[in-house]
Amino acid sequence: MELSPTLPINCTSFKVSIIGAGKVGSTLTQRIAEKNLADVVLLDIIPGLPQALALDLMAAQGIELHDSNIIGTNDYADTAGSNIIVITAGMARKPNMSRDDLIQINSKIVVEVAEQTILHSPNALYVVITNPLDVMTYLVWKTTGLGTYQVMGMAGVLDSSRLQTFIAMKLGVYTADVSAMVLGGHGDLMLPLPRYCTVTGVPITELMDEDSINQIVERTRNGGAEIVELLKTGGAYFAPASSACIMVEAILRNQSRLLPAAAYLQGEYGLNDLFLGVPCRIGCRGVEKILEVDLTPAERESLHISAESVRQNIKLALASLG
Ligand code: APR
Repeated sequence: MELSPTLPINCTSFKVSIIGAGKVGSTLTQRIAEKNLADVVLLDIIPGLPQALALDLMAAQGIELHDSNIIGTNDYADTAGSNIIVITAGMARKPNMSRDDLIQINSKIVVEVAEQTILHSPNALYVVITNPLDVMTYLVWKTTGLGTYQVMGMAGVLDSSRLQTFIAMKLGVYTADVSAMVLGGHGDLMLPLPRYCTVTGVPITELMDEDSINQIVERTRNGGAEIVELLKTGGAYFAPASSACIMVEAILRNQSRLLPAAAYLQGEYGLNDLFLGVPCRIGCRGVEKILEVDLTPAERESLHISAESVRQNIKLALASLG
């Protein structure tokens, strides 16, 4: 049979490269593949690890009924032409270690990853997951020289999702009916915003007393640490992978979703020259818009305190890189 010399339709798939084949990277690979969002290249520094995971995930393709191709590699050349680069490479938090303790180790790793990936995918959008998140996102933007809208950090979706879950658990309602919002840095100074949390449109301030709300806010702030304490060998990965997956989906399907993400601020909320968690419209161009919601003076002050901590850590990271 003679085949058409040109492709009558665009048969190419999207390509997402995930750097770091640890818990978050491998779970995210599974989520992207099983949602049929893109082909995935999983890269790690450990020989054999990403290859083994890719093979294992591919072996379930016929059962899970997806057609994403998954490749494991230690060679950055295999990431060439990626639409999205997701960075999870780095060290995960250990008990008694704050995200910020990771600055020195992860700064070096993330800069190296950014340098390598941008060489092969100069037009990619970047989703950064490695902690401390807001600082690592800044380093990726600086290192790649990309436009600010092309680089974003995954944290707000995760923190908001934790808040959403804790509200649903407390009220005994269906989680998807809860809408929750967390702004600020991905750390102990994050800013959960109960005023903007609702259950099917009803503000939670009408459904819960202040003490309950305060407890939930505190649990959200410690959501990552609570899991690290229990696990003892690493951090959370199911919800982080799910959170990154909806950001990848929002980009590839051009959904223009309003999601909280670490975005580069240029005067928004009175802040400049740093990445911080804010509500963003995310679609195929990356961060299409930053939404400025009204904050009370106290909320604005908390956001600025969180931003100042991120700014100090950016300084530490840049100093450690020399
Ligand atoms: N290049 C590529 N991969 C690397 C590099 C590097 N230079 N350095 C480390 N890695 C890989 C490790 O070999 C490991 O497989 O990154 C992976 C990290 O995986 P895990 O230790 O399982 O960590 P994980 O739980 O996936 O968390 C990854 O996400 O949420 C954040 O705080 C978390 O920063 C951490 C990141």
